[in-house]
Amino acid sequence: MNRHLISAADLSRDDALLILDTAEELAQLAERPIRKLPTLRGRTVVNLFYEDSTRTRISFEAAAKRLSADVINFSAKGSSVAKGESLKDTALTLEAMGADAVVIRHQASGAPHRLAGWVRGSVVNAGDGTHEHPTQALLDAFTMRRRLGRVDGLRVAIVGDVLHSRVARSNVLLLRTLGADVTLVAPPTLLPVAVSAWPCDVSYDLSAVLPKTDVVMMLRVQAERMNAAYFPTVREYSRRYGLDAARMAMLPDHSIVMHPGPMNRGVEIAAEVADSARSTIVEQVANGVSVRMAVLYLLLGGADLGGADLGGAGLGNAGTGARQADAGKADAGEADAGRTDAGRTDAGREGAGWLSNEAAEVAR
Ligand code: NCD
Repeated sequence: MNRHLISAADLSRDDALLILDTAEELAQLAERPIRKLPTLRGRTVVNLFYEDSTRTRISFEAAAKRLSADVINFSAKGSSVAKGESLKDTALTLEAMGADAVVIRHQASGAPHRLAGWVRGSVVNAGDGTHEHPTQALLDAFTMRRRLGRVDGLRVAIVGDVLHSRVARSNVLLLRTLGADVTLVAPPTLLPVAVSAWPCDVSYDLSAVLPKTDVVMMLRVQAERMNAAYFPTVREYSRRYGLDAARMAMLPDHSIVMHPGPMNRGVEIAAEVADSARSTIVEQVANGVSVRMAVLYLLLGGADLGGADLGGAGLGNAGTGARQADAGKADAGEADAGRTDAGRTDAGREGAGWLSNEAAEVAR
């Protein structure tokens, strides 16, 4: 796995599956009385948020804390950014504080990529402009796999404001890597000019696509990024591209409805759809914590896990100098074996034992 997670395209199929399998094991932690592991004790994770966010920031913070990392939350409001400090100067400050990972959300597409050139730690993109949001795509894939048992071969429709959506781009890339078939559904004005080069189909007709869809992912109409009229009226948009109960009834029985949040209820999604049994919106938020724990764990390597399956998996594939030094005890063979194990069906059971040992350690 790469040192940074900036684009969903950074992930090979094996990397993505390793993250999903690791998240699956870490998700067991949520069911335990003590939801904490000592794995990233002594590591520092900085959440650098230049743009408003509720769930993503809280999710990364919860993920880092559940792994016992020290978390520093930085939001541009109330910081020296308001005094005109540049991203580079902020990055140098973080370096001086010894950040092992920087989770960044920024309104400029490409900001995480620039940051990665200035810091020694791992950079995780938590959403940059209209570019990418790879951990959202990972948590979406995780949710699909949990609800429908697989991602490979699923027919996924991503509907709405694709033009302004980093979620759509990351999902198209990751879902292709994992073998799903994606169709983007939007009015022509809300599709990027170069969409024909994306590895997916395009449709302008939601009602025609729904009966052939396993997963429908609704996107928020991003009014804050719109500086022109992209559709005549909100009412007309909802009528053509919104998901209401009547449209939802066109889906096959097993299909699920997703939304990354925040939602505009009554615009792209009706309240009765958002709150229906098909909706995975709340699960997506819960799954986000497990997936982000897996990402931080795999990027930072964590502490020596004493040959546990999951430990081998993480240490074998992580890889900055500092991490390798910590990981020195696990030899490469063991690490490789761990990695294969992570994909085995019995890995979960063995991992459960490891999780309870770790939790007990935190409790002491
Ligand atoms: C998305 C984002 O910020 O890109 N939300 C999220 O991360 N949960 C989508 C959006 O803002 O519409």
